[in-house]
Amino acid sequence: MARPKSSVTGGCGFIGSHVVDHLVAAGHDVVVIDNFSTGRPENLAHHRGTPHVRVVQADVADTKRIVPELAGVRWMFHVAALADIVPSIQYPEAYVRANVMGTLGALEAAREVGVEAVQAQHQVAAAGLVLQCRSVGPLVGRRRASGS
Ligand SMILES: NC(=O)c1ccc[n+]([C@@H]2O[C@H](COP(=O)([O-])OP(=O)(O)OC[C@H]3O[C@@H](n4cnc5c(N)ncnc54)[C@H](O)[C@@H]3O)[C@@H](O)[C@H]2O)c1
Repeated sequence: MARPKSSVTGGCGFIGSHVVDHLVAAGHDVVVIDNFSTGRPENLAHHRGTPHVRVVQADVADTKRIVPELAGVRWMFHVAALADIVPSIQYPEAYVRANVMGTLGALEAAREVGVEAVQAQHQVAAAGLVLQCRSVGPLVGRRRASGS
C-alpha cells in the first residue's frame, strides 16, 4: 500500500523535526519546507539516505515556489515561524513576513494542491503581539463535524 504523504513546514526546526520523526514512524513520506533561517538540515540528518524525507529549501510564503513540491500531499503540518518574542518587537517586519505572510502562503499552497487538512501549532509572535493559535483546518471548503 502507498505511504501517505505529508508536509511539515519548518521541519528543520525544534518542533518540526520531531513532527517529521513521528510522521515517518507512523509510516508517512514527508516533504519538509524550510528556509533554514533558524532551523538546520542537520536536525533531520538521521533521515538522510532514506526515501521517506525530502527537504526543500524554500520560503513558505512563496506559494508559487512550494506548490510543485507539495504534489500528492494529503496533510500539512505548518510549524514554520520565527518564534522568539523579544526580537519580534525589534524586527516586526521580519516577523510579519515569516509568521503572517508565511501562514498565508502555506494555506494558499495547501488549497492549490488540494491538501485535505492543515494543522498549525503556533505561538505567533508578531510585532510584540503573542497569540496562542491551535487550529485543525477545514480546507478547500470542507468543515470538520467537530473542531478542537
Ligand atoms: N519550542 C517550543 O517549546 C514551542 C512551544 C510552543 C509553541 N511553539 C511554536 O512552534 C513554532 C516553532 O517553534 P520552534 O521552537 O520549533 O522554532 P524553530 O526556530 O526551532 O523552528 C522554526 C522553523 O521554521 C523555519 N522557518 C522560519 N521561517 C520560515 C519561512 N518563512 N519559510 C520556511 N521556513 C521557515 C526555520 O528555519 C525553522 O526550521 C513557533 O510558532 C513557536 O512559537 C514552540
